Amino acid sequence: MEILRCDHLCKTYRSGSSAVHAVDDISLSFEQGSFTAVTGKSGSGKSTLLHLLSGLDRPTSGQVIYQDNDLFRYNDNQLSVLRRRRFGFVFQSYNLVRELTAQENILLPVMLDNRKPDDAWLKRLIDMLGIGDRLEHLPGALSGGQQQRVCIARALANKPAILFADEPTGNLDGKTGREVLTLMRTVSMELGITMVLVTHDLGVAEQADRIIRLEDGKVAGDSGIRKEALE
Ligand SMILES: Nc1ncnc2c1ncn2[C@@H]1O[C@H](COP(=O)(O)OP(=O)(O)OP(=O)(O)O)[C@@H](O)[C@H]1O
Ligand SMILES: [Mg+2]
Repeated sequence: MEILRCDHLCKTYRSGSSAVHAVDDISLSFEQGSFTAVTGKSGSGKSTLLHLLSGLDRPTSGQVIYQDNDLFRYNDNQLSVLRRRRFGFVFQSYNLVRELTAQENILLPVMLDNRKPDDAWLKRLIDMLGIGDRLEHLPGALSGGQQQRVCIARALANKPAILFADEPTGNLDGKTGREVLTLMRTVSMELGITMVLVTHDLGVAEQADRIIRLEDGKVAGDSGIRKEALE
């Protein structure tokens, strides 16, 4: 079943008389519960595409449809509510709030939504991510891998339908990066969360059900859901 799609998505940046077609007429459909890796060279449009798909940024033209909701028909306020409730986002730079403890950071999106935290859910997340003994620490007292695991917990705290991640292991050493990625994938699979992950690491991309390769803002390759991923 489809959960998200984009139709003829374009994002053009203009400066003076020149234009950069960062995303150039991309149409894609994503299956619920699938894990897609988006790869491509630096500047090929990966982050731009992810920002559009997740409603962080508005396209120049084209649509993003999340379960029959046309994202860009919403105003900024409605869009940020939908994003907060249904999407989680993990960035390359951990971007935790430095003055808040790990626990407070994780709870932030739930608090912003004026909702009561689901303690059982949070405990499960924290256990799966192995950060139970770090909850009272400020981000500055955590290793990179621990900070990224806190970010994953924060992104999943609101039980999103889709987890978007942009080079989430880019700042970590190889081994820690693989551990964090495996965790992210295990948690998402167990919880039935759809994942869209940007990476230029082919070893990482190989773990996905589907690999999409971008070139100059266009889809240059799409494996579709690979058979072995379904077995
Ligand atoms: N805010 C912006 N203003 C102008 N041009 C931009 C802006 N953001 C991105 N671009 C341009 O759009 C193109 C795609 O950028 P994007 O950040 O999506 O690439 P990327 O594939 O994520 O690269 P990287 O692997 O280095 O993160 C690039 O040519 C970039 O310079
Ligand atoms: Mg990028």
